[in-house]
Amino acid sequence: MEKLKTAILISGRGSNMRALIDHAAQADFPACIALVISNNPEAGGLEYAAGHGIATLCIDHRGFKGRHSFERALDAALADAGIELICLAGFMRLLSAEFVNKWRDKILNIHPSLLPSFKGLNVHERVIDAGVRFSGCTVHFVRPEMDDGPIIIQAAVPVRGDDDADSLAARVLKAEHRIYPQALALVASGRVRLSGQTAKIEGAHWPVDALFNPQWEDGA
Ligand code: GRF
Repeated sequence: MEKLKTAILISGRGSNMRALIDHAAQADFPACIALVISNNPEAGGLEYAAGHGIATLCIDHRGFKGRHSFERALDAALADAGIELICLAGFMRLLSAEFVNKWRDKILNIHPSLLPSFKGLNVHERVIDAGVRFSGCTVHFVRPEMDDGPIIIQAAVPVRGDDDADSLAARVLKAEHRIYPQALALVASGRVRLSGQTAKIEGAHWPVDALFNPQWEDGA
């Protein structure tokens, strides 16, 4: 099986990166993780990737005059490694429209909310302050606008009355680790078709039931 050569871009602990690496280690997974790049030399994820035999690179944005020269170095490293798809996983640099358009439909991102709600940073605090009953996470194709682009998979998780940002973040993160590998597998196996602003998933199974939060007393 020809596997899709994928790079992961990180800036920090890299727990989503780990989930992607661990799933991609399975023989029948349709993508291989060929490169991990961090813009931050301290990123914990670099060591994990190297320990799993994956090529790693640190391209520190602070060593460049501006965003464009940083992105030129990024682009060159990706091209040198023959990368076909990029997964952003906690990568804390905004990418320019020029870079995103060059890699159009070849960059995925994970965001810890049910987009298009709660784009940006400090998501879980804002979710709790808004009093919404469900939050979740989204894997989507990247467009030049921040946290924008066709949605591939979402997972919804309940917001509990006793949640703080940390407890909600932990619940959402568990779901992130499930949907990012699934989304990568869908894209790499050619089951995702873009149609305008939306992504259609071939052979998808849809959930049938509504979720309620809070639930009725009898759990119905
Ligand atoms: C995740 O919550 C992801 O949704 C967001 O940044 C965080 C990265 O966490 N984009 P990790 O580095 O994958 O652990």
